[in-house]
Amino acid sequence: MTIVGPFGLSVHDGELDAEIRAGMAAVEQELLAATKSEFPYLTQTSRHLVEAGGKRFRPLLTLLAAQFGDPQAPGVVPAAVVCELTHLATLYHDDVMDEAALRRGAPSANARWDNSVAILTGDFLFAKASEIVADLGDEAVRIQARAFARLVTGQIRETVGPNPGDDPVQHYLSVIADKTGSLIATSGQFGAMFAGADEHVVEILTRYGERIGVAFQLADDVLDIASDSTESGKTPGTDLREGVPTLPVLHLRAAAQPEDAHLLDLLSAPLTDDDRHAEALRLLRAHPALEKARQDTRRYAEEARDVLTPLPDGPAKTALASLCELVVERSC
Ligand code: IPE
Ligand code: IPE
Ligand code: MG
Ligand code: MG
Repeated sequence: MTIVGPFGLSVHDGELDAEIRAGMAAVEQELLAATKSEFPYLTQTSRHLVEAGGKRFRPLLTLLAAQFGDPQAPGVVPAAVVCELTHLATLYHDDVMDEAALRRGAPSANARWDNSVAILTGDFLFAKASEIVADLGDEAVRIQARAFARLVTGQIRETVGPNPGDDPVQHYLSVIADKTGSLIATSGQFGAMFAGADEHVVEILTRYGERIGVAFQLADDVLDIASDSTESGKTPGTDLREGVPTLPVLHLRAAAQPEDAHLLDLLSAPLTDDDRHAEALRLLRAHPALEKARQDTRRYAEEARDVLTPLPDGPAKTALASLCELVVERSC
């Protein structure tokens, strides 16, 4: 058994291990090539988060999905790079919106430079992704554009919040399908598509990506409360500070007991005060609502695994199934 990539995936098959390793190394090279500008300052700002690391979950998914066709097909690695660059662009922008100071264990671009630099670097990375996807053809451009539009729609729907009368949990779940499931679905779809897999296999891997993407964001939202920054590489409690109600908070509100009144009061507005923020985090960490959100994460991950059932058995399917466990257990 070997561990492949920063996400810590265990692969039990020598050939798959070698192919994924080679694919991920090629992705790294292309990421560095794509983030080189003729203007050294922009190279530095663009590579800042590339070099800080990250799990590379999306390109890994593309490479694994490509195993259901010809994994050496020429479009596979560029498609994986497009997904990571698109993701990276959204991280630069997300940290501006969330006023986040830490990303991938490094100062965020907005903290290290400023908001303008972070926004423009995100735009540059998105332009680079567009340039690469253009070489992959019209269909790929359309898929990436639609995924990006869904991602942005999810972000803005999160900002606006549910309409009066909407179920807040349903609203939240559809927001995270849009903001996170969309690009992870595209990562699976691209891998299968560019490897020339059958249409129904492409459809399964798209659906799997969407489901595991929702589980991935649910896990992220739990980690925002439960983890510390040395593990996650991000500042805990950012969602609370920004007043973004994620699933643990929605569960708390839905089943609040009289003894929760103080916590509910703390969570009723963005938590800008450090002491109130620390107290809310401490109380939420110990609250059953957090465990309930963990259980939901597990359920979504299991649903993702079930989507794989019709695929042919083999090491790639095993690896995709074990990603479902990793997503739930992850601490970063
Ligand atoms: C962070 O994504 C944003 C979410 C969708 C939760 P990742 O958790 O994949 O971030 P990196 O790429 O590993 O830094
Ligand atoms: C943002 O969600 C997800 C994106 C699509 C960028 P979060 O705001 O929860 O992501 P993190 O926690 O900052 O990585
Ligand atoms: Mg954020
Ligand atoms: Mg988060």
